[in-house]
Amino acid sequence: MKKIAIANDHAATEMKKEIVKMLEAEGYEVLNFGTDTNDSVDYPDYAKKAADAVVNGDADCGIVICGTGIGISIAANKVPGIRCGLCKDVTDARLTREHNDANMLAMGARTTGMETAKDIVHTYLTTPFSQGANHIRRIEKLGKLDGSIQ
Ligand code: RB5
Repeated sequence: MKKIAIANDHAATEMKKEIVKMLEAEGYEVLNFGTDTNDSVDYPDYAKKAADAVVNGDADCGIVICGTGIGISIAANKVPGIRCGLCKDVTDARLTREHNDANMLAMGARTTGMETAKDIVHTYLTTPFSQGANHIRRIEKLGKLDGSIQ
């Protein structure tokens, strides 16, 4: 996964900037959909921008961050075709790739420390989907639920 869409609300601007800096230093291409200030915004608006980029193929995957990661993950998961995993540690990050083939990662800037967040991002970006038949079957059912698969 080389091209990453990223978006956040005002609670997560500092964390997003750190993550973008890290990813660009590592050679990833980052599509930053904001917000880039601390002025209050609504997380569904920003989740949608990053989720749309993933669904339409402009990005290989996405990262969304709000205060807890909860609101912005709920919002991202309402976009058909998105499987966004809210991760608090590297085990969550590994399993949401291995089991859910998550195409988006959500984190909470007020609930997860910066170093843990960086480790989560690395694990998320480098762990492949397991390709297990059981997981493929469940992911297809998710696609039928949101209408992204017939
Ligand atoms: C914003 O104050 C906060 O509600 C938001 O960042 C997030 O935590 C919602 O789930």
